[in-house]
Amino acid sequence: MTPIQFILNRQSCAALSAPAPNDEQLSAILAAAMTSPDHAGLAPYHFHVVTGSGLDKLTQVYQKAVKANTNNESKIAKASKMAYRAPMTIVVSTKFQEHAKVPVQEQLITAGCATLAMQMACIALGYGAMWRSGDLAYSDIVKQELGIKLDDEIVGFLYIGTATKACAQKSRRPAESHTTYWR
Ligand SMILES: Cc1cc2nc3c(=O)[nH]c(=O)nc-3n(C[C@H](O)[C@H](O)[C@H](O)COP(=O)(O)O)c2cc1C
Repeated sequence: MTPIQFILNRQSCAALSAPAPNDEQLSAILAAAMTSPDHAGLAPYHFHVVTGSGLDKLTQVYQKAVKANTNNESKIAKASKMAYRAPMTIVVSTKFQEHAKVPVQEQLITAGCATLAMQMACIALGYGAMWRSGDLAYSDIVKQELGIKLDDEIVGFLYIGTATKACAQKSRRPAESHTTYWR
């Protein structure tokens, strides 16, 4: 596959199981995040890598967050399964910094680009990955339990693992309808 084919074929994979990337592969995935375009080099992100028994801890966090809002048994049961959607989750959050030339939206974009870079690295290494958010990404309890400042944002949960089935190739919208040329 050529580099441009690799980019054009990127897609998410929701059905993920063990094995997760090993430590060496994980280092490469995190290194990919560090290639994210970054105005003034602020590195305005943080990554919580959750795997193994960490998935149990993350489940307790999710349960606490959901129980704070509802007694609904099915919602609590759903939250109890979320962390186990994949053998590894990287929680990507911002680490906003005051900067005269770099507003927080630019820092949020950098953290988002880091997330995409990690997804691409996972795919390059033969794994599947899916970027998710949902209510738990906006939960102050989840932020607190992960040590994320309430002023920061959880950019997403990047679920990573081995694809359990081949993902059907998606057809993409034509770029022309989203593009204006001045030439
Ligand atoms: C910030 C962000 C949050 C997302 N949250 C979810 C989510 O919670 N659930 C979901 O099914 N897809 C979510 N998605 C979309 C998927 O990651 C994915 O892009 C989508 O399913 C389309 O598949 P594709 O990436 O193969 O094109 C999110 C994407 C982004 C950028």
